[in-house]
Amino acid sequence: MTFEIIDTDVLVVGAGGAGCRAAIASSEADLDITVITKDILGKAHTVMAEGGINAALANLDPDDLCEIHGRDTCSAGAFLNNQNLVEILVEDAPKRVYDLENFGAIFSRTPDGLIMQRPFGHQTYRRTCYAGDRTGHEVLATLTEELRRREINIIDEVFATSLLTKETRVVGISVVDIRTGNFKVFRAPSVIMAAGGAGRIYDVTTNAQADVGSGYALAYKAGVELIDMEQFQFHPTGAAIPPAARGRLVTEGVRGEGGILLNKVGERFMIRYNPRSMELAGRDEVARSIATEIREGRGTENEAVYLDVSFLPTKIIEERLPTMLEDFLDIGIDIRNEPMEVTPTAHHVMGGIKIDASAATNLPGLYAAGEVAGGVHGGNRLGGNALAAGQVFGKIAGGSAAKYAATAQSPSLNRRAINEEYERVMAPLQREDGLSPSMETKQLQRVMWDRAGLFRNEQDLNAALQFINDHQKQITSQLAVRNKATRYNTEWINALELQDMLLVAEMFVRSALLRKESRGAHYRTDYPSLDNKNWFTNIMVAKHNGKMTLQNTSVVVTKWPPPWT
Ligand code: FUM
Repeated sequence: MTFEIIDTDVLVVGAGGAGCRAAIASSEADLDITVITKDILGKAHTVMAEGGINAALANLDPDDLCEIHGRDTCSAGAFLNNQNLVEILVEDAPKRVYDLENFGAIFSRTPDGLIMQRPFGHQTYRRTCYAGDRTGHEVLATLTEELRRREINIIDEVFATSLLTKETRVVGISVVDIRTGNFKVFRAPSVIMAAGGAGRIYDVTTNAQADVGSGYALAYKAGVELIDMEQFQFHPTGAAIPPAARGRLVTEGVRGEGGILLNKVGERFMIRYNPRSMELAGRDEVARSIATEIREGRGTENEAVYLDVSFLPTKIIEERLPTMLEDFLDIGIDIRNEPMEVTPTAHHVMGGIKIDASAATNLPGLYAAGEVAGGVHGGNRLGGNALAAGQVFGKIAGGSAAKYAATAQSPSLNRRAINEEYERVMAPLQREDGLSPSMETKQLQRVMWDRAGLFRNEQDLNAALQFINDHQKQITSQLAVRNKATRYNTEWINALELQDMLLVAEMFVRSALLRKESRGAHYRTDYPSLDNKNWFTNIMVAKHNGKMTLQNTSVVVTKWPPPWT
């Protein structure tokens, strides 16, 4: 078997906010940097982070400090957070926001011309910097421009299939070139995993089609350690209608600007769940409150609740929430006059690849940043901290990877492992008859939504695990692609993605089964309380002797002690 080998010094997998920021940082060194993306450059899911990016700039609230941003981050995260990473996040976030401004990002402004900041849930001060309700779009457009300006190699439409390792270090990655169907290898001493999240594992999600969790699966297969994979965030407000767009993000910015939540009888129900913070309580709490209203029969006919901004001045809606206004006008709802219908939606993996302060993983040469990296958000991420973490740890990963590449020995490839990977990748294309990737994917999404969603219990989680394990066995030998073309064969890519999705779903479910308490976004109806005595722990997931192995380790508290210690 022959395959093309492309050499580079630093390979960035993913071209969202974190991947682009990493590439920019790596390009400060005199090295060859390559960014690969499954999509087209500029289409990454980062564009969907509508509401903003957190940084304690104190432009509106002079008392805000990085220290307070850190405390809010840890208390929202039920103190599962890696506090070392939190400290870095909150101290570097202001610098990274100013970097974006220097690269050309246009933020909304205060009357004095400073970067405007809005309130977001569970935050003491107005800290979320924004560009209307298109912040992610502005951030990504700015970064991709900067990538082009620096003439960084960008190769889009390639699907990463496996990390390649030799003698316990990373040496590159194998891919399918989606345009040609060719199997190729990128050989690199340093790889930065910035492949985004896994919301597509669920039936109802804010996430782009691309977010199937391959970054976690590739890392796991290569022996990399992951952390707290049970901590998955459900955003409180996804659009409820039309059915084809169910789950699409309705930004927290709507509540930040004063939007209120009402049940079908017009009751502002958050008063019963969190009278102090109301709609701006933590996402975990607001999502569960909405779901409870719906479960207990106080939802609308579309299994939703109302989100209302119609009482706000029209100018505020038009200037600060233009995307929301447009999106809802498209389906015949004018939010200046009538409420939206919203429902919780799968949004963000808060666990992920375990990184240290240099964004290094336990696999030498592999770094991670963005949603795929875990630890900083703990059990519940603050809205606005994802864009911030992507910029902060993207820059750190880029710098670390370049430093490593500058002195690392030339990587050599393990041809036998690559041949085996080639066989795996080609198998669904060569099989004549068998299971359909899209049907299997749909079933997995449904099972995960029903059995491992916002509310969990032992019985449902075991049923989900059973489903996952049965399907893992079947798809290895039975998944078949009907379309045999190699160019732009999305069915084939879907077949490969599904294998990654099942692996990630298994990590979610096994971790959720292990954590026998409710903490952050992980809510067990059979263990509804916080259990600090037994479960103030992080759950690590890794492959040992070919088996998925979970391990509990005590949370390390450095700066922000939880109230119970
Ligand atoms: O609601 C939002 O605009 C999403 C932002 C985030 O998840 O950080």
